[in-house]
Amino acid sequence: MLHPAASADLDDLAAFLRTADLTVAALAEPAVRLWLERDDAGAVTATTGFELGVDGEHALIRSVAVRPDLRGAGDGLRLARFALDRAADAGAREAWLFSRRSGGFWQKLSFGPTTTRALAGALPDAHQVQLFRSTGQLDREVAWRRPLPLSVPVSVPVPVPAPPSARASFTA
Ligand SMILES: CC(C)(COP(=O)(O)OP(=O)(O)OC[C@H]1O[C@@H](n2cnc3c(N)ncnc32)[C@H](O)[C@@H]1OP(=O)(O)O)[C@@H](O)C(=O)NCCC(=O)NCCS
Repeated sequence: MLHPAASADLDDLAAFLRTADLTVAALAEPAVRLWLERDDAGAVTATTGFELGVDGEHALIRSVAVRPDLRGAGDGLRLARFALDRAADAGAREAWLFSRRSGGFWQKLSFGPTTTRALAGALPDAHQVQLFRSTGQLDREVAWRRPLPLSVPVSVPVPVPAPPSARASFTA
């Protein structure tokens, strides 16, 4: 079960994120909200979270990871939805994230591609943005966005009613 990360969790959380090749920047910052799950032995099995921008309108989803031996069972989507729901609960109207390797995963949640410039413009103070700017990594990143809440899909086509003649042929 997910529980909010406490200061006592931070070392384990950082080690888990490093193993998943995710950034460990600013894990203890108040704007960064993180949750984790542990197995019966106490080992971290999954993490998720977001950073709310200073305007409260934009959220940077981050730290969504599942332990490798547990992947492919739907936990990734569950964790991502959890972070999106909590970001919407916090008032965010738009979700953003960096992902170079998992774009197909995020597209399942109706994220669409955007530019790192747009992301950095929406979330200039986000710790990942500042880190990637300072290291020159920002231009090598891949950015994604979608509106919140989750009940607002971005990529579902609106059905167009067929003209009467076409409708007649469907029902014949
Ligand atoms: C990305 C990640 C969280 C997915 O976790 P998971 O538990 O395997 O995800 P799910 O089982 O919920 O997968 C749901 C769907 O997404 C697909 N998917 C999973 N990882 C994917 C990826 N990297 N790229 C494209 N599609 C992916 C699955 O095939 C599955 O598709 P299906 O429903 O058509 O079968 C996991 O691979 C991970 O921890 N990766 C390392 C950290 C990372 O890159 N996090 C994302 C950036 S924050």
